[in-house]
Amino acid sequence: QASSIPADRVPDMGKRNLMNLLLVGALSLPSGIMLVPYATFFAPPGLGGASSGTVAKDALGNDIFAAEWLEIHGPGDRTLSQGLKGDPTYLVVEKDRTLAAYGINAVCTHLGCVVPWNSAENKFICPCHGSQYNNQGRVVRGPAPLSLALANATVEDGKVVFTPWTETDFRTGEAPWWA
Ligand code: FES
Repeated sequence: QASSIPADRVPDMGKRNLMNLLLVGALSLPSGIMLVPYATFFAPPGLGGASSGTVAKDALGNDIFAAEWLEIHGPGDRTLSQGLKGDPTYLVVEKDRTLAAYGINAVCTHLGCVVPWNSAENKFICPCHGSQYNNQGRVVRGPAPLSLALANATVEDGKVVFTPWTETDFRTGEAPWWA
């Protein structure tokens, strides 16, 4: 069929290339503009470059102060905050009423549902396909293939700050799969 098209009907290659260039320009312009707020979102002001961390935010988007958090959240508490890259991340209150030095990324390693904490079961149980994680986020039942990711949680100027966890995963003794 195609071979029956006369040679003079074949679209001119020069014209086609121009069209492609225009199309690429039209597509990349908006995405280039959108990168600006995206980039500034991930470089929160006020950290002054001294830290590569991200201040944890509460459900309302406010910075989390460790002392205030510990007034409201008792021993054993696991409550979601906004962590690195905006990922939902559990802050953990230890039995001695201190903040754990790690946050637990709530994104299920199966297909990415946010995994709720079940205090009665002392586990994180994914509502999507039933994966279970212990109270430190170590996977104890599939289909999730991996434990929940960790982030370092420290306190700087009273605020809870997350930094990437690149050390050995203390729950498995293995290298962190997410780093
Ligand atoms: Fe959590 Fe499938 S997404 S078990």
